[in-house]
Amino acid sequence: MWRPLERIRHNSAPAAWPTAEAAAKSRLFSPIRVGPVVLAHRTWVPAMVPWRATENGDVTPEVLGWYERFARGRPAALVVEATGIRDVPSGPLLRIGHDRFIPGLTELVRVVREASAGHTRLFIQIIDFLTIRRRPDPAKFFERYLTITPAHRAAFGQSEAGESDIRHWLASLDAHALSGVLTEREAEALQTGFRERVTDIDQPHVRELPQVLPALFAQAAERARRAGFDGVELHYAHAYTMASFLSRLNDRQDGYGGDLEGRVRLPREVCIRVRAAVGCDVVVGCRILTEECIDGGSTLADSAFFACELAAAGLDYISLSRGGKFEDASQPKVGEAAYPYTGQSGYECMPSYYSDAQGPFGRNLGPAAQVRARLHARGFHTPVVVAGGIHNFAQAEAALAAGQADIVGFARQSLADPDWFRKVRLGRGHEVRLCTYTNYCEALDQRHRQVTCSRWDRQELDEPGIALSADGKRRLTAPRWDA
Ligand SMILES: Cc1cc2nc3c(=O)[nH]c(=O)nc-3n(C[C@H](O)[C@H](O)[C@H](O)COP(=O)(O)O)c2cc1C
Ligand code: SF4
Repeated sequence: MWRPLERIRHNSAPAAWPTAEAAAKSRLFSPIRVGPVVLAHRTWVPAMVPWRATENGDVTPEVLGWYERFARGRPAALVVEATGIRDVPSGPLLRIGHDRFIPGLTELVRVVREASAGHTRLFIQIIDFLTIRRRPDPAKFFERYLTITPAHRAAFGQSEAGESDIRHWLASLDAHALSGVLTEREAEALQTGFRERVTDIDQPHVRELPQVLPALFAQAAERARRAGFDGVELHYAHAYTMASFLSRLNDRQDGYGGDLEGRVRLPREVCIRVRAAVGCDVVVGCRILTEECIDGGSTLADSAFFACELAAAGLDYISLSRGGKFEDASQPKVGEAAYPYTGQSGYECMPSYYSDAQGPFGRNLGPAAQVRARLHARGFHTPVVVAGGIHNFAQAEAALAAGQADIVGFARQSLADPDWFRKVRLGRGHEVRLCTYTNYCEALDQRHRQVTCSRWDRQELDEPGIALSADGKRRLTAPRWDA
């Protein structure tokens, strides 16, 4: 995990909690319209993958327990984790790529409505991602995975040589010699695991993404509508397919890359198809990055342009994250896949308590303010959601007062204390369990283990009826809190 050189330790601060009367009069607890719905206030739980679905992508009792626990805190909006739009195996991630997923998702909606007494609006984040493989054992890589090309044959120097001789020879080379033989992509496949890119247009399934994805997103959104969600969030952020189309690194020459117009073309076409599929009664929003935070990546000016284009395409909200890319991810261990939150861009996405002088709290507020200002300058008042290190009332209220965003996302703070919202509204902020930004939860996410929080997962393990993690050592949801 990348850490800023300064390694200055920052502690989360409760600041001043409001009384119930002050909370009721605050900006944070004032309503806001988001497309066809009104949120009771401006509090929001952004998507977080808890690794609790089945290997087939189905909703499980543990998935229901996870969302039920957030809903009991009554945030105004809750976004269900990144959910795959294709009907392909993707490990224990939720899926929405077939009608058979609708009953499980319908139950999830029911559980959230009941637990929040109807106060929480429920959205689902829908995602497409490309292939990424685990870092291979070098012996197996040369023995099986590497495709032997004429270039390898030429480097070996014996035109009649059998493939196994070439494989054997490659396996015997040291790193320096290999760097003269393998292409950049082959070396990457060896060192970190093969990773597909949207620019691999020699591959038919990648070339055809612009023809295939609008329908896949639209069908997924329509299933979400049938399951009863209030809205869908198109995942255009971090390391995944749609963010890669928006990226400055996307130099496709087929009209879906290159300049800003080309890069936003597919995301805009997806928005339009999704809207046509779900109609105007369902919220359609998206999540994009303010900045990619990688060398040669998209800038704030690019993102402001994208936000305006997507608002013009009819999106009801724009949620802003930052970073979280594969390009600067650290090398995984053999047998593990690269994780896009291990480099500097990953730090920007989920900043932790050892930081630079700026600190981990609200690093995305300044950039979000610029995106929002550009939207307003172009006449769009599409609500902007921001997240990143926000954990106390004063921070959130100040961000809204300064016009940095319209809605405040609390991801890890909600995980640390799902009752944050109710506690603050009731004037009981002093009871809030603050997130300490250790990123213990993120480390679990990286290893695809059930996500919990170190601030509560060993507490009250004898509470009757609680669900425990697979190893029986951690509780899966935060201890009960009754108002
Ligand atoms: C365990 C975990 C899982 C996450 N999963 C997602 C996800 O599915 N989709 C997404 O857009 N962001 C995801 N994020 C990022 C958060 O939504 C959020 O942007 C980030 O944690 C920064 O906000 P925070 O400081 O309030 O936590 C995840 C974060 C964590 C900690
Ligand atoms: S484990 Fe808990 S306290 Fe630590 S960063 Fe995650 S949510 Fe915050």
